Amino acid sequence: MTTRPDYTELVAQARAARDRAYCPYSNFAVGAAALTNDGRVFPGCNVENAAFPASICAERAALISAYSAGARGVAAIAVIADTPGPVSPCGTCRQVIHELAPGCTVVLANMRGELYVTTPQQLLPGGFTPDDLRQAG
Ligand code: THU
Repeated sequence: MTTRPDYTELVAQARAARDRAYCPYSNFAVGAAALTNDGRVFPGCNVENAAFPASICAERAALISAYSAGARGVAAIAVIADTPGPVSPCGTCRQVIHELAPGCTVVLANMRGELYVTTPQQLLPGGFTPDDLRQAG
């Protein structure tokens, strides 16, 4: 028998990170938490900017925090927002998860406790990879 991993704690950490979101323009708060293979958890929240494109999403904040600390090998990332169903990561975050956390489990959540467990491949089939760069003519 296989036991399904329990993502309750990781989602709770993403939820706590969401409380720290800086989102005065959208008022759409997002939290994330990346669990690395060595057991560390890196939280992230969306941080907006009056120059809108300079804003960063919660997922990327968490992954960049992990990489900045030298962590590699992300086992799971949880993302949460106050959405009707589990939050849908934006295209840019899908691309970044695809490269920085390729083998991870992605746990999408909302504030009602709904979860959707997926993978980077499912979120972004055919995503651009380092191989695409190397194979360029
Ligand atoms: N946002 C995230 O943090 N993650 C996503 O995957 C979707 C969007 C943020 C960006 C912006 O601060 C706000 O949500 C509205 O788009």
